[in-house]
Amino acid sequence: MGTPRGLRNAGSSSSACRFLAAFAVLLTLPTLTAGLTRHYTFNVQMTNVTRLCVTKSIPTVNGQFPGPKLVVREGDRLVVKVHNHMNYNVSFHWHGILQLRNGWADGPSYITQCPIQGGGSYVYDFTVTGQRGTLWWHAHFSWLRVHLYGPLVILPKRGEGFPFPRPYKELPPIMFGVWLMHCHFDVHLSWGLSMAWLVNDGPLPSQKMLPPPSDLPKC
Ligand SMILES: *[C@@H]1O[C@H](CO)[C@@H](O)[C@H](O)[C@H]1NC(C)=O
Ligand SMILES: *[C@@H]1O[C@H](CO)[C@@H](O)[C@H](O)[C@H]1NC(C)=O
Repeated sequence: MGTPRGLRNAGSSSSACRFLAAFAVLLTLPTLTAGLTRHYTFNVQMTNVTRLCVTKSIPTVNGQFPGPKLVVREGDRLVVKVHNHMNYNVSFHWHGILQLRNGWADGPSYITQCPIQGGGSYVYDFTVTGQRGTLWWHAHFSWLRVHLYGPLVILPKRGEGFPFPRPYKELPPIMFGVWLMHCHFDVHLSWGLSMAWLVNDGPLPSQKMLPPPSDLPKC
């Protein structure tokens, strides 16, 4: 695929500082309506995480599980710099975001991009247009999506509202996920893509899922 487009954007400035700077601009110019550029950095790394009394080494973004919350306003440009520090390939999908003429940021491995290989980086760069509400992002390479996901909040433009009455109370996003109690996710990776068909199991014999492969590792 050649050099990923985003690599040319790589800079050394702290994204946190840039985000704070963007926030400061918002505070001092409350009537500003033009879209801002929101910068985030994803360091994808193995992290020991404990849930339900079980500690496992799983892929995380910046050591967080679920991953960090991204916040933009409608019309903003979102720039997410991904560094893959794992030995696994990965890519990221911004679920529900309309990638208008911007398919390179959509994220499905081997559909719109080759995956980011271990040690590699890629910058997802897109503008959120005509959408507001809470969506989510997730990894789009085989089973990695089980661990790598987080909320993506799109606020309305300043001075505009959501297309529903103001709620009585606002809660932070609640992420639901699965926590695999058995095995390690990496043993699934070799047959992860075929596992994806399990969700299509149907009532007819011709729609039933195939039995597990004979080389399915024992737990
Ligand atoms: C996770 O914990 C194990 C066992 O304590 C340790 O060997 C390993 O280095 C830890 N991994 C990380 C990424 O911290
Ligand atoms: C990782 O990506 C590279 C490039 O697409 C591919 O050659 C390799 O087979 C991938 N590795 C896995 C485990 O899928």
